[in-house]
Amino acid sequence: MNYIKKLSERNRLMDSKIVRDSLSTFGVDNLISLAAGHPAAESLDYELFKESVDKVLGKNDLSLMNYSFSNGIPQLREAVARFLKRTQNLEIDSRSVGISSGSQVTIDTVCKAFLDEGDVVLVEECTFLAALQSMQSCKAQIVPIPMDSEGIIISEYERLIEKYDVKLTYLIPTFQNPSGYTLSEQRRTALAKIIKYNDLIVLEDDPYGHINFNDKQINSIYSLAAENVIYLGTFSKSIGPGLRVGFYTGPFELIDQINAMRFSVDVHANVLAQNVVVEILDNERFYTNVKKMSSIYKVRKDIMVEALNKYLPESYSYAEPEGGMFIWLQGENDIDSDLIYKKAINNGVSFVPGTLFTPNKLDGKNKLRLNFSSPDLKSIDEGIKKLSEIL
Ligand SMILES: Cc1ncc(COP(=O)(O)O)c(C=O)c1O
Repeated sequence: MNYIKKLSERNRLMDSKIVRDSLSTFGVDNLISLAAGHPAAESLDYELFKESVDKVLGKNDLSLMNYSFSNGIPQLREAVARFLKRTQNLEIDSRSVGISSGSQVTIDTVCKAFLDEGDVVLVEECTFLAALQSMQSCKAQIVPIPMDSEGIIISEYERLIEKYDVKLTYLIPTFQNPSGYTLSEQRRTALAKIIKYNDLIVLEDDPYGHINFNDKQINSIYSLAAENVIYLGTFSKSIGPGLRVGFYTGPFELIDQINAMRFSVDVHANVLAQNVVVEILDNERFYTNVKKMSSIYKVRKDIMVEALNKYLPESYSYAEPEGGMFIWLQGENDIDSDLIYKKAINNGVSFVPGTLFTPNKLDGKNKLRLNFSSPDLKSIDEGIKKLSEIL
């Protein structure tokens, strides 16, 4: 039987094979993976996780095994509101907080909620590939906003909202995936003004904000324009991605719609995991570990930058990130990162080709995403050396 022919056009629109190929290079013998965005094993607090699981299971509470609320258990919604007050000084009513099975499922739900076929969604010039897949599956028109190392260029954003009837803007403004870039304070303020004035909705995805290499607090776009932003957070990078717990907040009317849609998407997040996250967020050791995590990643970033300075051909450039997990290499226009990827694998190192992150594949041809959070220090130096040999 031709199984592929049976699949939907939506499925065919999603070009996911090379994604699986490059991400599956993690943990393969004799191959240094600079591809996957996994947390460093040393950064995960297994003791705290285990203690919290034991505590939850010790309650002998049968509700852990039962169906629950689509928007999450009230204890976690309240814990998230306290967490946002503590970490970002945000005053949020827990009724406007929803608990997700991680941010990607909420991106997918928001795309379904906002985007009909042909609707325009604006995204950063390079962006999170799973979000692009969700938008593609809605048959949306995905329009890239030109950016530089300070994030999207505001005059370009203004030009695009003038030109198109924009339904949604999806942004990862802080320590972006894949570029590592952060939208500057000045541009955040300008963007907030524009979206308020034009009644636009921004989906702000913030999985990396806490992996901050400086002490400088970065204000979310949500904090500047709460009526116009759906803000996504996740515990994938601060506790562990295996738990599949994240959250969303924003204008109550929209959050209520997303909650209602959850029923057809994933019903609700895992109840055991939600209870475990409540315990973890109430423990001071969580906050200590997040700090430790940032310092582990800063050391890895420094080693990667040192190796790039040592080995990288002069025709490549990058901006040093101030947080997050990635460095975005940019080569001359005539290079082909898909071809380089094949050569790199044969030379014992992997990365993710830029074409996977750009709505127009050609825009990513001369770009490469490097991850510094998962490889150890020795592998980072060796990996950059191996990669530079074939660049
Ligand atoms: C920008 C961005 N958004 C969302 C996610 C998905 O996070 P989660 O594990 O919470 O689904 C990731 C994961 O890598 C990401 O990089």
